[in-house]
Amino acid sequence: MKTFKMVRGMRDFIPEEAEMLRLIEGKARRIAQLYGYKEIITPVVESYELLAAKTGEEVRARMYAFKDLGGRKVALRPEFTASVARLVATTMRNEPKPLRLLSIGSLYRYDEPQKGRFREFWQSNFELIGSEKPEADAEILLLTNSLMKSVGLKNYAFKIGHVGVLRGILSREGLAEETQNRALQLMDKKQYEDALSLVKDAGASEKCLTLLQKIVKVKSSNISKVLDEMKKLVENCKEAYEAVNNLAKILELVSEAQKLDITVDAGFARGLEYYTGIIFEVYVPELDIALAGGGRYDRLVELFGGEPTPAVGVAHGMDRIMLALQEQKAPLEFQGEKTVMMIPVSEALNQEALRISEILRAEGIPVEVEVMGRKVAKALEDANRRGTSYVVIVGERELKEGAVTLRNMERKEQSIVKIEELAEAIRTGPR
Ligand code: HAM
Repeated sequence: MKTFKMVRGMRDFIPEEAEMLRLIEGKARRIAQLYGYKEIITPVVESYELLAAKTGEEVRARMYAFKDLGGRKVALRPEFTASVARLVATTMRNEPKPLRLLSIGSLYRYDEPQKGRFREFWQSNFELIGSEKPEADAEILLLTNSLMKSVGLKNYAFKIGHVGVLRGILSREGLAEETQNRALQLMDKKQYEDALSLVKDAGASEKCLTLLQKIVKVKSSNISKVLDEMKKLVENCKEAYEAVNNLAKILELVSEAQKLDITVDAGFARGLEYYTGIIFEVYVPELDIALAGGGRYDRLVELFGGEPTPAVGVAHGMDRIMLALQEQKAPLEFQGEKTVMMIPVSEALNQEALRISEILRAEGIPVEVEVMGRKVAKALEDANRRGTSYVVIVGERELKEGAVTLRNMERKEQSIVKIEELAEAIRTGPR
């Protein structure tokens, strides 16, 4: 018989993993509530043209793109931001701003599979739309910090830059946006030499090249020092200078509100092409891949036919957050409900077992019924292995009195409890 394997790069989540993913999702939803973000649900399949418009070469080349049966060129979404911008440019065009929108779901990129890199992965994505103010950028950073903290991650740090600095320098040289995009793509991959020779070939001056060489090396967690250094380097380039000022303002707002571990990296670039302002990623020491990434994109909604609409957002990689928690051996504790296993001592009592299970479930208590026909001792062993909180043993003698045996698995204690008092005994009893 033929056996099937999972398609390369795809993921199965077995129950413990699915539970952890959903737990992270639950935390993200809670953060959304706390910061006022409302969920939208957009389709997995979008038009190729929409998704390809500003995702950048790197992601564009890795899209799951195909023609549907109607001959439309479509693709599986590699990210949420394009879909959100489409919605804001069309159906939600007249909604009052700011709009705070949450998306959660699976994304698809034909990346080379490796640790923490999958072809199907999950994000919680937050977009704050309609504000050009630094408070909006600060909010996106702060809510990302809140999420990382609430899942229990340790030693996570923000890497922050501003595309306005590099673009400002390149624009002053009159370099076309297309060339700038390619140069930033290379910088994103840390191929600074290649980026510089590309810029040189496109006609940039020696002065510009020297400045670029210097600026990409400016990086420090001493924020005031690094900002001063950047300002000094770009003082003759208005656009880049304003970008540094904008970055400084955002970081000041953030530091007033929270203590974040931040490194400012002037040579930091991200693969996505729509960014116009601050860009950032989150890392933990255990992994060299980003757990989250985001930034400001002020022209995307307009590009999709909407009003000029400034926006800033972030996507948290839920698979990678999960991996980081596992690496830190701090997996989220699932403080689940108390669970019950219902074991009839003989087949003749199966019906009673089902009836009592239904009573408990109606009271909101999760119950698993013994369905393998095992003897009590075997079934108890299984309940123990599964970490069940309580076992209810349905026996002839107790039933005559309208009662059952209730056993606390952790404490290994048991007592006879009336059926009508069973739910209350479980609810108020020890875990
Ligand atoms: P991104 O940096 O491409 O940004 O992805 C965000 C996060 O998704 C990454 O930091 C990573 O945790 C996760 N991720 C990306 N690719 C993979 C993969 N192949 N396997 C596992 N996890 C992955 C965006 O997607 C932007 N839309 C973020 C944004 C929202 N910018 C503004 N608003």
